[in-house]
Amino acid sequence: MKQGSEETMKKWNNENKIAVLDFGGQYAHLIANRIRRLGVYSEILPNDVAPRQLKGFKGIIISGGPQNISEDDSLKCHSGVFKLGTPVLGICYGHQLISHILGGKVSRGKTKEYGKAIVYLKQKKGIFSGLSDQETVWMSHGDYVSKLAPGFEIIATTVDCPTAAVADYQRNIFGLQFHPEVTHTSSGMKILDNFIYKVCRAGKNWDMKTFITQETKKIKERLKGKKVFLLVSGGVDSTVCFALLNKALGPSRVYGLNIDNGLMRQNEQKEIESVFRKNGFTNFHRINASEEFLNSLTGVFDPENKRKIIGQKFITVQDQETKKLRLNPKEWILGQGTIYPDTIETGGTKHAAVIKTHHNRVEAVQKMINQGKIIEPIKELYKDEVRQVGEMLGLPHNLVYRHPFPGPGLGIRCLCADKEYPIGPKPLGKINGIARQYKLKVKILPIKSVGVQGDSRTYAHPCVLAGNTNFKTLEKASTDITNNIREINRVIWLLTKTAISKFRLKKSYLTKMRLDLLREADALVNDYLRKNKLYESIWQFPVVLIPLSFGGGESIVLRPINSTEAMTANFTRLPLKHVKAMANKIMKLKEIDAVFYDVTNKPPATIEWE
Ligand code: XMP
Repeated sequence: MKQGSEETMKKWNNENKIAVLDFGGQYAHLIANRIRRLGVYSEILPNDVAPRQLKGFKGIIISGGPQNISEDDSLKCHSGVFKLGTPVLGICYGHQLISHILGGKVSRGKTKEYGKAIVYLKQKKGIFSGLSDQETVWMSHGDYVSKLAPGFEIIATTVDCPTAAVADYQRNIFGLQFHPEVTHTSSGMKILDNFIYKVCRAGKNWDMKTFITQETKKIKERLKGKKVFLLVSGGVDSTVCFALLNKALGPSRVYGLNIDNGLMRQNEQKEIESVFRKNGFTNFHRINASEEFLNSLTGVFDPENKRKIIGQKFITVQDQETKKLRLNPKEWILGQGTIYPDTIETGGTKHAAVIKTHHNRVEAVQKMINQGKIIEPIKELYKDEVRQVGEMLGLPHNLVYRHPFPGPGLGIRCLCADKEYPIGPKPLGKINGIARQYKLKVKILPIKSVGVQGDSRTYAHPCVLAGNTNFKTLEKASTDITNNIREINRVIWLLTKTAISKFRLKKSYLTKMRLDLLREADALVNDYLRKNKLYESIWQFPVVLIPLSFGGGESIVLRPINSTEAMTANFTRLPLKHVKAMANKIMKLKEIDAVFYDVTNKPPATIEWE
């Protein structure tokens, strides 16, 4: 059958989907993304979904989750899920839940397994078809299945976990203690591929071409006779959303508005406009509201407050503009380029905690969504999928592959400080001990940044390491520090000849002057990356201004990361000659006293500082 045909779409709507039951954290979303990459549409459903709602699905995956089965109020699924005759794969918590519900037992393990482990496979059929006798996998558990449920057999073990994988071939129910969805599990995708195609016998029904056809149809149906007003930042998501709406409705029914909020990068607006013009978009408009935005941020220090004010301001300015243009509110609906991770991080799914309030998920927007006044055509996609759609819609490669840029812009890359956050005596003793092991100097900073640990938000201190070393050692030290000292969620490395103990916190909030300074540093970095052909090898590169003064000025932190969908990320180990060259350029800015390099992965630190 031809993909993208009517028949495929009919099937996609009804059957042939894989259900992923969500038990909190980011697990279900990562699994759903992987399944879709393999070519099958997957839908995330709440953990306690009624079994009748799962009828027609080709397979069910029970995700991991941050809880312990033994706790009374831990999340469960319906036992009816296992009576549908549909193949089931339980992962980590899901694996334990299967045993718990079907008559086995889950106990506390003597050893906790975190990180890489070797599993020994007892058989290589079904989900393990085509694998080797030993495989490297990613483990993260304290509990384990200590007694099998009737009908199950062990199909893999590790040194510390006798029940690393179990199967009931009769009922097609499988459990994995490890995580096949993370890239550290080397044959993880093969296992998922085996499950969906060999065990569930699903047919390929998901690709971006099908998505575009299906979504275009949906947009047309939903917006019969209506028009869309879309805020276009020039970032990847809103640009792709704009192109998709244009394809579905034609330019006369889409109004793209770019608001200069004073938080954009150097020359950004002009560049975006010229790209849009070159690509034939006649319905793209610009306004300057930077003063209004900056006025509303005067004297604001708290990151969540900043995010909420910026998000709300977008709506106010957009409102003013539609009034000025005399657009009939009955005829116009607001469009947003929200993508999946935006929803998760704002706590938009049932068990997700609020990590950060994304600009497109503030209260006023949420209210409009509930009233059906907003359309978000790409809200189910991940960044990699958005990019594919963008290229298929004919957008230029360099636009689609721009680094992601957050909606609140430089507003969340320019740290503000009212007063020093006090550092308790406890972490001080511990941290000196750890830094000594690595022969590095250390200093805990009296500022805070956002992190994510155990799927919850943290707001904690960064610490600085100083000394001649390499990224391998820095990563070890960084992991050691953040694993052992709760008060620290981020580690940065000093790149310049600055005496780290001699700093002063500079009381500051968002001003045009500070933002201009950050814009200059950011432009230096981006020019350097492009000139040295490094730009596309890095997923995202926030340049952050922190109010740490060593002589009247402030400091810059370089935060290059690599990721596939921003749910997890590793700091990039750029060749040191480039790192030093960028730091030297930045140090030439009169108001900059020091430059640092962020050596923290996500988790425990988020990509952006705020
Ligand atoms: P964090 O910092 O949470 O960011 O690791 C994950 C990804 O999301 C981007 N980000 C945002 N994007 N609106 C957006 O459109 C926002 O409010 C927002 N906050 C963070 C961030 O740049 C990274 O790519």
